[in-house]
Amino acid sequence: MAPPVIELVGVAKDYGSGASRRSALAGIDITIAEGEFVSIMGPSGCGKTTVLNLVAGFDAPTRGEVKVLGRNLADMREAERSRHRARHVGFVVQSFDLLPRLTVEENVTLRLGSIGVSGRVAIDRSRRLLREVGIDETLWRRHPGELSGGQQQRVAVARALVAEPTIVLADEPTGNLDSTTSAVVLDLLRALNVQRGTSVVMVTHDHFAAGYGHRTLEMVDGRIVLEIGLPRHAVRSSAPLPFLRT
Ligand SMILES: Nc1ncnc2c1ncn2[C@@H]1O[C@H](COP(=O)(O)OP(=O)(O)O)[C@@H](O)[C@H]1O
Ligand SMILES: [Mg+2]
Repeated sequence: MAPPVIELVGVAKDYGSGASRRSALAGIDITIAEGEFVSIMGPSGCGKTTVLNLVAGFDAPTRGEVKVLGRNLADMREAERSRHRARHVGFVVQSFDLLPRLTVEENVTLRLGSIGVSGRVAIDRSRRLLREVGIDETLWRRHPGELSGGQQQRVAVARALVAEPTIVLADEPTGNLDSTTSAVVLDLLRALNVQRGTSVVMVTHDHFAAGYGHRTLEMVDGRIVLEIGLPRHAVRSSAPLPFLRT
């Protein structure tokens, strides 16, 4: 059996120091297999985003180990962690985080540049993916500020997927969206998971959205207090995603 794509072992995270020291994660264990779609729920401030930041290697745990694709992130130098992240991890966040001075298309191709794909290949691949998420050529030269929230999130999803990451981390990806656009984004995440075997970890406040996962982890005060659903092994269909066909 393939090793877990994500493994947190006894992970604690404190912020601040001295009297203002505060525990965000109290020592948690999470194992996510290849091809799993896991939802994380819990009240504001319980540590959900902290979990994603640690998996991405943006931040280091105070105690415990964070392993991604079998490698302890603490064993890598910063430059290697960045490369590892660019190649293997895609993000979707609630606020979209598109670069406002770049066009829609540039926001997506930029991500490919970070893994060494550029020029015509990068443009073609970005455009194909943009079309697939419902962003047509009339919007490619616009700037993010000229798009609706739903359109911006579709662009953000295209950007997260264009480098064909092994893992997608989504932090309240539908938090700012109407229900129709939410469904588009969730269906895209599901298609990526089912057809490519991409592992998805999605933080959400919405039970409907959480239902897209095979499993839901419920967090309170830096701990996992409930797990709904069973861990599963990768179920991968051989059909490529239409938008990732080259
Ligand atoms: N960079 C930071 N510095 C200090 N405290 C932080 C930082 N990031 C998060 N926290 C604190 O850690 C706790 C967990 O935060 P977070 O992971 O963002 O929660 P959630 O995503 O579940 O709302 C909160 O109490 C938050 O205030
Ligand atoms: Mg959060």
